[in-house]
Amino acid sequence: MKVAVYPGSFDPVTNGHIDILEKTIKIFDKIIVAVIHNVYKQPLFTPEERVELIKESTQHLKNIEVGCFSGLLVDYIKEKKACAIIRGLRTVTDFEYEMQMAMMNKELFPEVDTVFVMSNSKYIFVSSSAVKEAVLLGGDVSTLVPEAVRRGLERKLG
Ligand code: PNS
Repeated sequence: MKVAVYPGSFDPVTNGHIDILEKTIKIFDKIIVAVIHNVYKQPLFTPEERVELIKESTQHLKNIEVGCFSGLLVDYIKEKKACAIIRGLRTVTDFEYEMQMAMMNKELFPEVDTVFVMSNSKYIFVSSSAVKEAVLLGGDVSTLVPEAVRRGLERKLG
């Protein structure tokens, strides 16, 4: 069984993330979406809320599991017996950071590879932080995030 982990902050999940999942679930048998619980960061949504929003937004997809992790990503990969890390790439500016992270993870755990997937051009400009800023300033983000997330953002920032 080919299991991949799709890690991220997902604060909150966007249609760009869902697009990456829709593409990669055709390649792997199971994908575990791993929400980072970073004690040094102040996210808008708690890890539990982010997990719940991802679950609600991926109901149309089979073989997706959603969980939380803290500490090293490669330790979570080992625990879940995954063979790959999935990351989305929007523009070349993502590449440098992503390449460094992929190489670091490979160094820490040589058995794992990172699979990069190009974002759909519709979502190249979409990021969780841009979405939060838009909502805070009264913008409509209904084409950029799943409906459950739009409601969650309204509750927190609207
Ligand atoms: O959505 P993000 O914020 O770009 O995700 C970044 C994430 C969570 C994938 C990355 O920060 C991470 O893997 N953190 C875990 C700590 C770790 O394993 N560091 C070593 C590899 S650089």
